[in-house]
Amino acid sequence: MKLMEIEGNRELNGTIRISGAKNATVALIPAAILTDEEATICNVPEITDTDALCDILNELNVEVKRASESIIINPKNMINIEIEEKFSKKLRASYYFMGALLGKYKKAVMYFPGGCSIGARPIDLHLKGFEALGATIKNEKNKYIVEAEELHGANIYLDIASVGATINIMLAAVKAKGTTVIDNAAKEPEIVNVATFLNNMGARISGAGTSTIKIEGVETLHKCFHEVIPDRIEAGTYIIIGALCGKNLKIDNIIPEHVDSLLSKLEEIGTELEVGTDYVMISKSNNYKSTTIKTLVYPGFPTDLQQPFTVLLTQCNGKSKVTETIFENRFMHIPYLKDLGADVTVKNQTATIIGPTKLAGTSVVATDLRAGAAMVAAGLLAEGTTTIANAEHILRGYEQIVEKLTSVGAKIKIREI
Ligand code: UD1
Repeated sequence: MKLMEIEGNRELNGTIRISGAKNATVALIPAAILTDEEATICNVPEITDTDALCDILNELNVEVKRASESIIINPKNMINIEIEEKFSKKLRASYYFMGALLGKYKKAVMYFPGGCSIGARPIDLHLKGFEALGATIKNEKNKYIVEAEELHGANIYLDIASVGATINIMLAAVKAKGTTVIDNAAKEPEIVNVATFLNNMGARISGAGTSTIKIEGVETLHKCFHEVIPDRIEAGTYIIIGALCGKNLKIDNIIPEHVDSLLSKLEEIGTELEVGTDYVMISKSNNYKSTTIKTLVYPGFPTDLQQPFTVLLTQCNGKSKVTETIFENRFMHIPYLKDLGADVTVKNQTATIIGPTKLAGTSVVATDLRAGAAMVAAGLLAEGTTTIANAEHILRGYEQIVEKLTSVGAKIKIREI
């Protein structure tokens, strides 16, 4: 197990450069197998979720070359074999191989995906989408066999604007016969990034970033070069850390529009912010106002930033409220935040936070990726030493987090126990 140790209550000053987006990368890698030619993807973050997907590519005999920040994927000798459970359960995004293999070979055999335990996270909408495209699904325990004689375009309405289902259906539909329309599609920037990648390979997708996506099937896809967008969740996490401990902390290489909902909440509580074309500069204030947030699909307040943001709310004057509407189990960090000294109560899907409270370092656990990010933010603020167990969760989504924070003045290390 990895243990992260932070000596908190230090001022952070300097520049943190944001890496490529995890949630785009983890879809782009499976999407790359849809061609038989080489795809070069740059600005790829070195995180363990990327490694896990490359392991699956290796299993499928896909050639993968990694150089600094880029990855070259060549599926010309690829074989379509069952993806074992030990691979699929390592991360949520393994499910994108279902759509990609179905789209390419009309057959995918794999197991239920893993990922953070933040709710039940069913994949029924993905499967309903595949069925609408002409696939049949056999499900034995955790194993799914998804097959089609032919994939044909369809009109698909998503009951929930699911990120995963939107991308997976796009992957399965790009080479289907005819036109597919996804209604109530998710609008996250990562979806636009994946659609751009597929279009660069010759796909015909329009409307990505709106709630109606149209995919006109094409026969073949060709090689391409593509760049991953900056990670808005990594950016948001460091911006929140800046509001807690920053002194002119610059969060660089970002698309500020992608974190608009966060920036407006920060302005509302009274944060000192400078927003440039590709950066945000932020300093800590000692007099924050309380606020309420409700997680929503993009462009609403992202559920992935809810947990780090609760840490900031412990420093606001008065009563703040956080309502989680996307995942039913996303308050697992709260007991640990209370151990650090926060005053929080949770009822149903709403956390009420009374502040400001001083936080003092103690032993906590990263129960999932973003809960781990919240513990890092809390540890950087707290007096004394905070130790975070299960820190491997954090490394799934934050490239070089120790190095980045150390470079701006944090005292943080990670060790194996
Ligand atoms: C993705 C992100 C995750 C983020 C989430 C919401 C990746 C790899 N992960 O997760 O970081 O927190 O979007 O922004 O990109 N649902 C169903 N049935 C389905 C699919 C989803 O009921 O078939 C439900 C989920 O349980 C959840 C909601 O829909 O309550 C949204 O989930 P979804 O957008 O699919 O999230 P993920 O793609 O899993």
